[in-house]
Amino acid sequence: MTNLTRTHTLAAMKKFQTRAYLSKHSPMSSTQSSTRAAEEERNVDQQDARELVDWYKTVRRDLPWRLNRDPYRIWISEVMLQQTTVAAVIPYYEKFLERFPNLSALASSPVEDVLAQWAGLGYYSRARNLHKSAQALEERGGFPETWQELIELPGFGPYTARAVASLAFDQKTGVLDGNVIRLLTRRHGLSVEWWKPQGRTPLQDLADRVAMSTNAPADLNQGLMELGATICTPQNPACMICPWSARCVARQTKRTDVLPLKKPRREREIWVWRPYVIAKRGRVALIENEYAPFLKGHWITPGRAQRVTTAPKRFDYRHSVTHHDIFVIVDQRADVSTGVASQAKWVPLSDLKKWVPTTLVRRAIEQSSKTQISSARRSQAGLILTGLVMAMSLSCTSAPKPYNPETPASSPTPIASSNGETLLAQPLTQDGDNFRPIFSPDGKKVYFISENREAHQHQQAYEVDLATRVERRITYQDGDVSSVAVTPDGKSLIYASATDEIKEDPFFVNDLRNRYTPPEGPTSVSPAPTTDSTNTTDDPPPPRLIGLLESRQPTHCELYETRVDGTNIRRLTKSHGFDGEPALGGKGRHLIFSSEKNGNRDLYGLQLGNAGLRRLTSGPLRDIQPTVTPSGKYLAWVQLAADFTTSQIHVSDGSSYATAPLTNKAALNVTPFWHPNGQEFVFASNRGDGKTFDLFSVDRKGTCLKRLTESSSHETYPAFSPDGRWIVFSSNHSGRFQIYLMEHRPPPICLTDLP
Ligand code: ADE
Repeated sequence: MTNLTRTHTLAAMKKFQTRAYLSKHSPMSSTQSSTRAAEEERNVDQQDARELVDWYKTVRRDLPWRLNRDPYRIWISEVMLQQTTVAAVIPYYEKFLERFPNLSALASSPVEDVLAQWAGLGYYSRARNLHKSAQALEERGGFPETWQELIELPGFGPYTARAVASLAFDQKTGVLDGNVIRLLTRRHGLSVEWWKPQGRTPLQDLADRVAMSTNAPADLNQGLMELGATICTPQNPACMICPWSARCVARQTKRTDVLPLKKPRREREIWVWRPYVIAKRGRVALIENEYAPFLKGHWITPGRAQRVTTAPKRFDYRHSVTHHDIFVIVDQRADVSTGVASQAKWVPLSDLKKWVPTTLVRRAIEQSSKTQISSARRSQAGLILTGLVMAMSLSCTSAPKPYNPETPASSPTPIASSNGETLLAQPLTQDGDNFRPIFSPDGKKVYFISENREAHQHQQAYEVDLATRVERRITYQDGDVSSVAVTPDGKSLIYASATDEIKEDPFFVNDLRNRYTPPEGPTSVSPAPTTDSTNTTDDPPPPRLIGLLESRQPTHCELYETRVDGTNIRRLTKSHGFDGEPALGGKGRHLIFSSEKNGNRDLYGLQLGNAGLRRLTSGPLRDIQPTVTPSGKYLAWVQLAADFTTSQIHVSDGSSYATAPLTNKAALNVTPFWHPNGQEFVFASNRGDGKTFDLFSVDRKGTCLKRLTESSSHETYPAFSPDGRWIVFSSNHSGRFQIYLMEHRPPPICLTDLP
């Protein structure tokens, strides 16, 4: 440092220290300090609001009530959403709006029509109030634009009034529902009793404060609800892709699982319910429930409900609704002359599901009609009925068994070593150039890619059985197979393969339960055998997402998802960059991938089923090879330097992606693979010599690095077995790449010198 710069630096430090000293020690009035605190608070609120609104604009789901700002459409959605979930509301909402497209249509219709459209949503008093409010609104000439006016109308509570005013008219007011409560208590680390008015007030104030700090309160409030519903979920929140995770107090203090506080459970109550099932000519009498404390306001049969202290010995069936344990004794003595039946609604049995969505009530009706039929036919049908009931009860009682992968059938002993000391690994393969091995989910097989053993042309997917060491070829492609993955059920292999004729990498699925024989005649460019054509069992395809596809175009590459049978292919990204290396996190709920655009490669996260995107890293180096722990809590990835000669591995828990690297030498460190316990990962490093690669492991905090192999060859693509005891990798120890298996027995010493 020159004298001049030293002087400047010292002066600058002094100035800074003086300012810091003054601000700490100068007498400041309490007004000044509270003004400053308020200003800081405002800045943070503004940042929260800005980041949330930006996030919402990129991830928002296209829900039918978000099509426009029509207060009528928004109001109906908010009332329905108080009853049930978004998915359950959508079909009701669409039918309701078809029948009552606007305020005057609703106001001028008979209330019975409104109740019929509401059937199945429960709380019929809400439907009645909706109708009453529509008439009041129509009379006053439409919707007022503030929550203070809306709340004066029948049927508008504080939530609905604030939601309509902010979402339709951009009034700056906070909207507090269950999702927002969860989000705010976690973000600010608040242990408040949110179910009590005194606990709710600070949350409402907070929600109002954030709404005041933005010019887009509608997007802000939709964003809060969206974040709570899709990312900040009650269990397993996807903090890794949350826009607020850097400032989230619950996350910093590891309290996401205790906040919001649990509402104390109400004491359980035992009730005996005697429904009177009164049926006549295919119709059953229902009334709006006012006599039982459970299912208040729902359509149920007339009857009697009685609170008891002990469960009755004889009952027909038992059901729980919130804190009520209900023992049901179906009363078939009741007949049409029962007084109450005269005021009932007579619902056709064929329409029962529409009016009575809850099984508690439907079962009583169905049981009663079945008993009547069976007693009438007992003499002829007794045997058949018994057989049927047995079959039913068998299928009801045989609960699915939990998935329990076994450890490898044989535990192979290491037989080969490269230098007799640290690398104790055995080759699993004999021929070809073999690379990218992965274990099957049960740990009994290893899949890998190899140059075609016979033709020495085109890479294909192979399998080796660890117990017998028998290899089999899985694919017969005209082009190179470039990546393989196995479905979690172990039944299918998904792979990408180029073809010679068309320069594309279509994705294919092969059923691993079948043996493949090469297709006869000239090899074709059409997909290899798929589950459709070769499936020998009647298993239906897994209902959920199984594969992530990179679809390569000359100018871009996007990610897709599909079911294993190739149906439901859905595009996930629209970046028009090169999206790839997808890694699933958060129990398969979100996806991390890398994307290259304009020469930068960064990591992005998106929520599956939601297709929204969040950028996680932002240049100037290239972020690649993301890999997520099984629990979805930690992400490891490689940051490649601009000259491609060095790369460092980083780990993040989602609170910041500007992390310190765990590997800090001028080396190429690549291909991290997490141990199933999520506490350490293995990776390959060339330690800066530019030639040989060895395998290392490091804990996720980067405190203890261990060398796993020491050779003069090239060890790479490490992958753990599902039980974490074994590692497979490829190595060119013998001159060509082979797949090796080694026990994961890291040495006790930590290296001080990071590669
Ligand atoms: N839950 C309550 N209101 C909602 C809205 N407007 N969008 C999504 N979910 C909601």
